[in-house]
Amino acid sequence: MQTAILPPVFRSKVIGAGPENDLSSQIDRERLPRHIAIIMDGNGRWAQRRKLPRIAGHRAGMRAVRQGIEACSTLGISFLTLYAFSVENWKRPHSEVKLLMALLREYVKKELEELDRRKIRLAVIGRIRELPLPVQRDLQAAIDRTRHNKGLQVTLALNYGARTEIVDAFREIIKELKENGALEVDERAVSRRLYTQGIPDPDLLIRTSGEMRLSNFLLWQAAYAEIWITDTLWPDFTRRDLFQAVLDFQKRERRYGGLGIG
Ligand code: IPE
Ligand code: IPE
Ligand code: MG
Repeated sequence: MQTAILPPVFRSKVIGAGPENDLSSQIDRERLPRHIAIIMDGNGRWAQRRKLPRIAGHRAGMRAVRQGIEACSTLGISFLTLYAFSVENWKRPHSEVKLLMALLREYVKKELEELDRRKIRLAVIGRIRELPLPVQRDLQAAIDRTRHNKGLQVTLALNYGARTEIVDAFREIIKELKENGALEVDERAVSRRLYTQGIPDPDLLIRTSGEMRLSNFLLWQAAYAEIWITDTLWPDFTRRDLFQAVLDFQKRERRYGGLGIG
């Protein structure tokens, strides 16, 4: 095999050459989406199809999270936002919510080392203070530990709802208005008071499991995001799906209401 005569840096590339690496090699590294946001949906259905409890689907979904993060980090994406728990998800049975919170803690503890090794910065958006205290503590520890990392920023949307976020931004604006007497309210002013301040708007929004809706995710920020929906259920999502989404993104013409370049 040729690989023996190649220097190690090339050798690893050849050894890893599988179908997903073929896909990844087609991606134009100069035209990557800066920010990818994912609605990770379909865990319950994945479990149901296997006659397993829903939580087994959430656990399997953690593997997909690992793959998605790894793929974005390897590609050189700057921001990845993962919708993990919505403000509406509290409507689910208490037992499922409790297990989801436990899984979240388990995930953060288990993955922290690897996230840090990859120079990933962890962040959260949502009404974090309403999450159980042990969850908040573990999240905070992971955020503190990875704060200075300069690689991919992974933002977990937890107890997140876009309408709640916009309401919170309005409250902030009104508060500042009362304090300062005057305040210019334009698009930038609103953006800067959202949970996502400092994060660019998503360029590519992925949803798994085939639902054609936003489910209260990044309603303001996704105004011009390219949307990519796959029937794949979240636990079956692999780096190959992510590469496919990015390749598809690179074929799109983003016009922002103008006439484009053609
Ligand atoms: C997404 O999977 C994970 C969360 C919302 C926490 P679901 O649990 O919504 O799975 P389905 O949509 O019922 O299959
Ligand atoms: C969206 O999925 C929320 C997350 C992925 C965390 P849901 O399963 O809650 O959304 P709906 O109910 O299908 O709209
Ligand atoms: Mg769902």
